Amino acid sequence: MIFRTASDGETELLGGYLFCRLAGRYRTFLLYGDMGSGKTTFVRGFVRAAGYEGVRSPTFTMVTVYPTRYGPVHHVDLYRLLGEEDFYTLGLLDVLGRDIVVVEWAERLPTDVEGVRVRFRTLSEEEREVEVSLP
Ligand SMILES: Nc1ncnc2c1ncn2[C@@H]1O[C@H](COP(=O)(O)OP(=O)(O)OP(=O)(O)O)[C@@H](O)[C@H]1O
Ligand SMILES: [Mg+2]
Repeated sequence: MIFRTASDGETELLGGYLFCRLAGRYRTFLLYGDMGSGKTTFVRGFVRAAGYEGVRSPTFTMVTVYPTRYGPVHHVDLYRLLGEEDFYTLGLLDVLGRDIVVVEWAERLPTDVEGVRVRFRTLSEEEREVEVSLP
């Protein structure tokens, strides 16, 4: 599936839509794309659809857990991941497949993880292409 959004609001809406369509069936969402391509914006809408308001970029903590009525949603940002051991200390392997996990900078995962892949491309200042592939 390929979508095009023309504003950050539309990317949030797409996040909410995909939460509603897919989060019941799939637990892991892997987000790919350059800086500013809209990953955190997408997650804001995705998590809002789960009933939690206030997603920010977890860049400094790498993982933020939001309590939602669908259980904990783990928002991961691997931009600052230094090495493989760093990844294993995050403890994500324990929650993958059980809780909802959304990973920004999934390019940096040191190990194979199955999930819905969401690829963001910047087309212009306000336009983004978002390609969604199911596992
Ligand atoms: N169609 C759009 N979709 C999403 N964001 C958009 C769009 N048009 C403009 N923007 C702007 O682009 C920026 C996207 O930032 P965002 O933090 O979501 O990107 P990111 O992919 O998470 O970056 P990073 O890799 O640094 O975490 C925001 O400033 C947002 O307002
Ligand atoms: Mg981000």
